[in-house]
Amino acid sequence: MLEGKRIVLGVCGSVASYKGADVASRLTQAGALVDVILTSSAQRFVSPLTFRALTQRPVCTDMFEPQSAVAEEHVELARAADAVLVAPASATTIARLAHGLADDMLALTVLATVAPVLIAPAMDAQMWEHPATRANAATLRGRGVVIVGPDVGRLASGRSGAGRLVETAVLLGALSQALGARGDFAGRRVVVSAGGTQEPLDPVRYLGNRSSGKMGFAIAEAARDRGAQVTLVSGPVALDAPYGVERVDVRTTAEMAAAIGRATAGCDALIMAAAPADFRPERTADQKIKRTAQGLTLELVPNEDILAGLGGGCIKVGFAAETQDMRENARAKVARKGLDLIVANDVRAAGAGFGTETNLVTLIDAAGNCEELPLLSKYDVGHRILDRVAALLAARG
Ligand code: PMT
Repeated sequence: MLEGKRIVLGVCGSVASYKGADVASRLTQAGALVDVILTSSAQRFVSPLTFRALTQRPVCTDMFEPQSAVAEEHVELARAADAVLVAPASATTIARLAHGLADDMLALTVLATVAPVLIAPAMDAQMWEHPATRANAATLRGRGVVIVGPDVGRLASGRSGAGRLVETAVLLGALSQALGARGDFAGRRVVVSAGGTQEPLDPVRYLGNRSSGKMGFAIAEAARDRGAQVTLVSGPVALDAPYGVERVDVRTTAEMAAAIGRATAGCDALIMAAAPADFRPERTADQKIKRTAQGLTLELVPNEDILAGLGGGCIKVGFAAETQDMRENARAKVARKGLDLIVANDVRAAGAGFGTETNLVTLIDAAGNCEELPLLSKYDVGHRILDRVAALLAARG
């Protein structure tokens, strides 16, 4: 999303100013062209040289500096920007922007741009909670500015509260969402499932599988980056939800079925990357099962098939996790579960399946046609699936 995009990064004076350097670095690594504007207070905390070295581009510190490029065309940055991000944003700058001032380069750029503007506040909790700051933030929100955070946690004053700059990964997610807001999924609702489910045996044990959730989370992120409103129904996984995605946490297959039933009402597409357990113990013991010299025999009963049980209406995409006869098994699942598309992966192939950053998949449609994709990142696999979903939605009119 960020490759080749012109991002203006405004950095204000704050104990968190140094974190602006990480944002500049990560944006540059993601392929963005980053034009940094440091306010005069920011320069008391961090040096322009740091940002110049990280972005390999001129850094704007003074709009009245006769030698600077902006002296010739003071609204050039505002015009060229694909997005403007102010991180960290101080209470003073938020007030300045809310009142439409143009008395420094950052305020002028925000006033002159038609690109999306995102503001990530960082200040003491008392300043953030002051009615003046709240009103200024509300004014900006009302004008379509995206306010990202602040996080709650330990502040420079030593106290805890709302006022910490959000993590860089969250800012990159927010920027990607803003840049993709008018994508081909704008106005669409997409439900994605991720992770494995856990079927309790007793209060401390469960039956589960090796799904990390990475595949489903990557699809959710890709759909968000194309403008979709995304609900992510996830089993227990160690991943943070992508910014801007509604996350519903579940544990068992029955809970996942109920959550997907609710989330898919009126949605445009369901993409089931989750690995719900097909069986659960017939009984869950009330107390921890004790070790004995004899073996233990478990009686399992089948769980409901979530995909097969869902009514029509939305585009239904399933996955097939196979260890043999991948295409034949996947084709059978398309028919049995009433799918529009299935994403077949041989979970024993190198770089594919559980826990990996990449996947090697074959897309098979309802007519049985196969499209074999090369090894791709799970995010790129997500986009290739969404390309097919977009075509299916278009065909439905
Ligand atoms: O999470 P990662 O570590 O990134 O790993 C990704 C993955 C390997 C889990 C993913 O790529 C994948 O293959 N997901 C599907 C896993 C699975 O349950 O496959 P299946 O062939 O058993 O099921 C077929 C389809 O039916 C799947 O879409 C599944 O979500 C769905 N299903 C399964 C069981 C059930 N009770 N109800 C269902 O709807």
